[in-house]
Amino acid sequence: MRLSHLPVLAFVLATAVPSDANLFARGTQSLARTANRLHHRAAKRSAGLARDLRRAFSGMYYQQELAETGGSQRVYCVNNANAPPAASNGTGSSGSQSSPSGSNGTAASTSARASSSGTAKHASSTAASPSSTSPASSPWKLAKSYQGNSFFDGWDFFTGDDPTHGIVDYVDQGTAQSANLTEINSDGHAIMRVDTTPTVSGNRRSVRITTTYSYTGGLVLLDAVHMPTGCGTWPAFWSNGPNWPAGGEIDIVEGVNDYSDNQATIHTSHGCTIPSSDSSKLGISGNVVGGTNCAAAETNNAGCGMTATQSNTYGVGFNNNGGGVYAMQWVDKGISVWFFQRNNIPSDISANAPLPDNWGTPMAFWPATDCAPFKFFDSHSAIFDTTLCGDWAGNVWNDAGAPGQEQSCAARVGISTCEDFVRNHGAAFADAYWEVNYVKIYQ
Ligand SMILES: *[C@@H]1O[C@H](CO)[C@@H](O)[C@H](O)[C@H]1NC(C)=O
Ligand SMILES: *[C@@H]1O[C@H](CO)[C@@H](O)[C@H](O)[C@H]1NC(C)=O
Ligand SMILES: *[C@@H]1O[C@H](CO)[C@@H](O)[C@H](O)[C@H]1NC(C)=O
Repeated sequence: MRLSHLPVLAFVLATAVPSDANLFARGTQSLARTANRLHHRAAKRSAGLARDLRRAFSGMYYQQELAETGGSQRVYCVNNANAPPAASNGTGSSGSQSSPSGSNGTAASTSARASSSGTAKHASSTAASPSSTSPASSPWKLAKSYQGNSFFDGWDFFTGDDPTHGIVDYVDQGTAQSANLTEINSDGHAIMRVDTTPTVSGNRRSVRITTTYSYTGGLVLLDAVHMPTGCGTWPAFWSNGPNWPAGGEIDIVEGVNDYSDNQATIHTSHGCTIPSSDSSKLGISGNVVGGTNCAAAETNNAGCGMTATQSNTYGVGFNNNGGGVYAMQWVDKGISVWFFQRNNIPSDISANAPLPDNWGTPMAFWPATDCAPFKFFDSHSAIFDTTLCGDWAGNVWNDAGAPGQEQSCAARVGISTCEDFVRNHGAAFADAYWEVNYVKIYQ
C-alpha cells in the first residue's frame, strides 16, 4: 500500500456521496471495516479512468500527493498515446471495411434503423413488437469482425509506458508473436498473454491493442472464453474517443486481482449524469458503484460505475464457465452493457443478427435522458489490455472483502507487495491471458 487507510478514509469522507455517508450510520460496522469498504468502492469508482488518462485513484492520490508535496503538482496524465489515428473523422485507417458514410453517418443511420425497425426499447407503443412468428431481422449491420487467423489485423499494438503505472512492458506485434504472448490457438481463438518467465528484474511483458477502426454509435460484441485473472492482474476491454475525456470512455469488462464481479464504467466531460443510483429505476441488473455524476473533472475522475452481481461475469467464475458474450450498445436512448454466460447466449447473437431489444435487462445502462450519447462520446476505438499492479491492482493488494477477494492478495500469496509477487512468481501468471473467440462491431 502506498497509502495508509487513514488518509484514504479522510479523503473519502470528504468526498463521500450520500450513499457512502449512509454506510457510516450503520452501527454494525466497525470503522475499520467501513473504511475498507469505502476504500474498495473508491478504488473501483476511480479505477475506470485509468485508461488513456488512467490516473486511477486519481483524486485520492492526487489530493494525497498535493498534501505530501505541499502542493507541487505531479503530472499523471499520459494522454492518448494510443489515440486512434484520424479518430476524429471516424473513418478509421484499415481500409476495406471502414465505415462507408464518414464522420457521423453511422450514428444517424443507426438511429434511423433503430426507429424504423420498431424495436427500440423505448419506442412508442405504435411500434410493432418483435414478431414471434417470423425471424426478426437485425437493425445492425456488421462493420468489423475480428476473429480467427486474422484476429490481430486491424489493431495497433501500444508500446508506451502503462499510463496506469503497472509494471508491464507493452510489446509490439512482432515481439508479441515471437515471445508467444499472442497466438491463434487450435480452436481459432486469439490469445493475449503476459510473460510467465519465472523472474524479471523490472517489468513483465504484456500486450495492449487498439482497433484502428473507430466508431460513433454502434454495437460491440466480445465473445471471450477466458480472461486474465489472479493476484496482480488488471485486465480490461474498453473503448475511448479522442481528447479524453471529451470523446468519452466506456469500460465494458474490468476488474483486478481475484475480483469476481465485473465493473462497467463511463467517464465523460462536464454535463453527463445518471438519473438515479437505484438499479430498479435505471432498469439494470447491476449496482451503481458510486455517485451519479459521470464527469471526470468534477468527480476526481470517478465516472459512473456499475458492477455485476454474478460471479461468472469476471475472473475465475467467468473462466470456469467458458466465459460468454459481453455486448455494449451505444444508441440514441443511451449506452447499455449486457453479459450472457456461455450457455445463455441469445440465438440472434449466434446467428449474427443481434436483436438487443430482445435481450432483457442489461447489467448497466446510462440513459440518454441525462447524458446525450452522441454528445459525450464519439469516435471510439476498442481496446484490450492486461496490466499488472499499478494504480488499481497494486493499491488494493492488501485489501480484503471485495467479492472474489475476500482475503487480501498479500495474505493469499504471502507476499507483501504486488510488485514483488509479479516480478518473482512468473508461473502465477499462467492464467493471466485473454482467449477471445471474436470481437464484432456493428453499426
Ligand atoms: C480524416 O482525417 C485524416 C487525418 O486528419 C485526413 O487525412 C482525412 O482526409 C480525413 N478524412 C475525412 C473524410 O475527413
Ligand atoms: C451525430 O448523430 C447523432 C444521431 O443522429 C446526433 O444526435 C448528433 O447530434 C450528431 N453529432 C454530430 C457531431 O453531428
Ligand atoms: C505458448 O504458450 C503456451 C502457454 O504457456 C504453450 O502452451 C504453448 O506451447 C506455447 N507455444 C509455443 C510455440 O511456445
